[in-house]
Amino acid sequence: MKQSVKMIVGNWKMHGLGGALDQARAIDEAAKALNGACRVALCPPSTLIDRMATVLRDGEAAVGGQDCHAKPSGAFTGSVSAEMLADAGATLVILGHSERRSAFGETDAEVAAKVEAAIAAGLEPIVCVGETLAQREAGEAIAVVSAQVEGSLPDSLSERPFAVAYEPVWAIGTGLTPTLEQIAEVHAAVRAAIVKRLGQGARTAPILYGGSVKPDNARDILATPEVGGALVGGASLKAADFIPIMKAAV
Ligand code: 13P
Repeated sequence: MKQSVKMIVGNWKMHGLGGALDQARAIDEAAKALNGACRVALCPPSTLIDRMATVLRDGEAAVGGQDCHAKPSGAFTGSVSAEMLADAGATLVILGHSERRSAFGETDAEVAAKVEAAIAAGLEPIVCVGETLAQREAGEAIAVVSAQVEGSLPDSLSERPFAVAYEPVWAIGTGLTPTLEQIAEVHAAVRAAIVKRLGQGARTAPILYGGSVKPDNARDILATPEVGGALVGGASLKAADFIPIMKAAV
C-alpha cells in the first residue's frame, strides 16, 4: 500500500439493520472500482459485523468495530471484546470516540487499555481525539489534542498499524467544520505528538479528519497537509453520499 493512499472509514454509530447491508454492498462495489487507490472501511454496530464481513468477504472494503472492552472476556454484561470483534470478521476498531469519552466517561488511560486489547486481538485501532468548543474558544485545542494522543497511545503501538482520527467535538454531526488552516494546524500537532510518543517509526501512521465530512467538502479536506483520510459519520450511511467521498480521496 502506497503511503499516500487515503483511508476512508465510515462510522455508522447506532444506525443500521440488516437492510443496510445493501449500502455496504454498493460501497464495496465502488471501492473495488477504485482499484486500491483508496482504502475503505465500514464500522457498523456490533450486531452487523458478522453479516457485513460475510457479505464483503471477497470485497475491498474492510469491516471494523466502534469500541471494545479492554478485557478479552469476563462478567461485563453488554460489552464486546476485541477478540470477539476479530472473531466476527472485524479487522479494525474505532476507540476513544468523543461520544464514548463524553457519554461513557472514557479516560485516556481506559482508551489506551482498549488499544492494547485491540492489538492483542490483531485489530488495527483508530484512536480518536478532539477538543470541545469551549476548549477551542479558550485556545486549548492543540494542548488538549496533544495530551489525548500522549495518554491514549500505549507503547505497544510502535511497529503496529494504527491510525489517529482528529474529530473536533463541535464539528461532529453539526455541519460545522474547522477551516483548512485549523485542520492543518491540529494535524501537524497530532503528528508531532505521535512521533514524540512513539518515535520516528510512527511518522507514517495515517491521521484521519472527522466531523461533518460531506461529498462537497471532502476533496479540500483530504488535500490538506497531514490529512491521511476521513472518519465519516452521517455521510457514511448512504452509498450515494459515501462513494463521492471515497472518490474525492483519489
Ligand atoms: P459526522 O460525520 O456525522 O459529523 O460524524 C463524525 C464522526 O463522529 C465520525 O466518527
